[in-house]
Amino acid sequence: MKIGILTSGGDCPGLNAVIRGAVLKGVRVHDAQFVGFTGGWKGVVEGDFVPLDRHSVRGLSRQGGTILGSSRTNPFEGERGGPENIQKMLDENGIDAMIAIGGEGTLTAAGRLTDAGLKIVGVPKTIDNDIEATDYSFGFDTAVQIATEAIDRLRTTAESHGRCMVLEVMGRNVGWIALHSGMAGGAHAILIPEESHSIEQICEWVLSVRDRGRAPTIVVSEGFTLDTMNEAHSHLGFDAFNRPRLGGIGDRLAPLIEERTGIESRSTVLGHLQRGGVPTAYDRVLATRLGMSAIDSVMAGDWGSMVALRGRNIVRVSIANAVGELNRVPQARYEEAALLFG
Ligand code: F6P
Repeated sequence: MKIGILTSGGDCPGLNAVIRGAVLKGVRVHDAQFVGFTGGWKGVVEGDFVPLDRHSVRGLSRQGGTILGSSRTNPFEGERGGPENIQKMLDENGIDAMIAIGGEGTLTAAGRLTDAGLKIVGVPKTIDNDIEATDYSFGFDTAVQIATEAIDRLRTTAESHGRCMVLEVMGRNVGWIALHSGMAGGAHAILIPEESHSIEQICEWVLSVRDRGRAPTIVVSEGFTLDTMNEAHSHLGFDAFNRPRLGGIGDRLAPLIEERTGIESRSTVLGHLQRGGVPTAYDRVLATRLGMSAIDSVMAGDWGSMVALRGRNIVRVSIANAVGELNRVPQARYEEAALLFG
């Protein structure tokens, strides 16, 4: 069997470990052959791929990014897009099935293509940890580690100058990175998309920290909204799936805090630093196991399924059910953290 692998959407530490896991098990156990589509769905639409063998995945699990490249291409768009054209390209090249590694947008596209008859299995990828069907997604642990280190670093300089530091982390729809890094780094307030707050409440937390003689540290998800905002802050246009590119809420909050509290306030946007570099050991193990399971799904012909972590086990769920629901931070988890704010 010849299998095409693609990594699509925003990259994420651990993508290469998935590719390695799938190829090594596929070659060793199932005698499968592999190709890698370059640039995600773009490579699929353009029929652009490279051979993947044991040699090409050697030492890959510790390597960040994706050796195949990624893009936010929509496979239903363009002259060569759509299920019929893609199936034709697969037939012409003797490719029997595909493993699509991606987030919400990629998996939704994979589900639609499977409905149209293509043979695809999915692997969830998101540093945001926003896919409900999997307890954790690889890349999240690495992002939390990086954000926690940033908080630790900001705290020392904040204390030196008596400043309020606002750290903006990723998290389009859900606040897991902010919640976990904020708890780990002992942030004085954590602001997430699931829980809107007033600027007055935020300033109350900031002032109570200052009154204790400390320098306030706030972690905010890019998708957080103040109670006066109708939508998340965006000034960078739209991506290929027509979603606003988020970022900038930290820069918006810091002057508001300074104006109301009189405390010098600075913002740091962590941005893509959270997605780069080597994956943590946890993410390498999870990604490798997901890759190894994905190849079993292909061999079982379980098209339209996605591998997921449930408890300690890797299970198969349907992509259609997986993409509908977002893994939001439950209110109880937020309230637990909020007990320590201020
Ligand atoms: O979906 C993962 C994510 O990291 C989001 O948190 C963020 O909004 C988005 O990707 C940024 O994507 P890009 O790098 O394409 O701007």
